[in-house]
Amino acid sequence: MNWGMKNRISRIIKPGTGRCVMLAVDHGYFQGPTTGLANLGKTVAPLLPYADALMITRGAIRNWIDPAAEIPIILRVSGGQSILKELSNEIITTNIEDAIRINASAITCSVYVGGEYERETIDNLSKLVDEGEKYGIPVLAVTAVGKEMARDARYLGLASRICVEIGAHMVKTYYTEDFEQVVEACGKVPVVIAGGKKLPEIEALHMTYHAISDGATGVDMGRNIFQSDNPVGMIQAVRAIVHEGKSVDEAYGIYQRSKR
Ligand code: 5RP
Repeated sequence: MNWGMKNRISRIIKPGTGRCVMLAVDHGYFQGPTTGLANLGKTVAPLLPYADALMITRGAIRNWIDPAAEIPIILRVSGGQSILKELSNEIITTNIEDAIRINASAITCSVYVGGEYERETIDNLSKLVDEGEKYGIPVLAVTAVGKEMARDARYLGLASRICVEIGAHMVKTYYTEDFEQVVEACGKVPVVIAGGKKLPEIEALHMTYHAISDGATGVDMGRNIFQSDNPVGMIQAVRAIVHEGKSVDEAYGIYQRSKR
């Protein structure tokens, strides 16, 4: 791995703990104005001090994020479909030059293993890895799950391992039972979990705790933070598990206390 690639990864995965809390706010690229993100800037501003990186599209960053913000950017560079159509029909929407202009610390696309456009999305990832290797920009592959896909360790291990074999530098997937098998399938490539649909806070913290215990490097969480009734308390609680090894009860206490 070249120096620039290593440097960018260590801006995201903090060398002090070897872990990371990414905040995902890229949902609009296929969902439009997702609950909590209609005014993305207002939602994100108080959370930035607690996030290690922000996963976002180029349009959202230019509209809502202050260029003086010190947060490392994981730039969502795939899209081209919507919730109204076949989700796996993605293309690359942002070229590497624009990612460099934005000063992205990483670029990201989704891979739909088993989806109708599986091959095309793997092709998207392989092209991004080629570009990323050329310019020292790591690629985060997201194992997106089509409506009909099971979210078990067998499927997520298959999808994640394919991303690793194609050359992804980090993998984002979903938490499942036997998650350690998914992490093992990824070898040395860091694995982070998406939060998925909004859960009660205590359940989202349990999921975070188990993912970390099973070997995840961190989270790339969206709705379970910004749709919480206390988003700042929730991201602080998630951080406490990821970076400080706190228990679920301790983390939940952080979330509750900051509500008062
Ligand atoms: C969609 C994504 C989203 O960024 C991510 O899944 C959203 O995070 P969350 O599920 O925690 O709201 O990558 O493919």
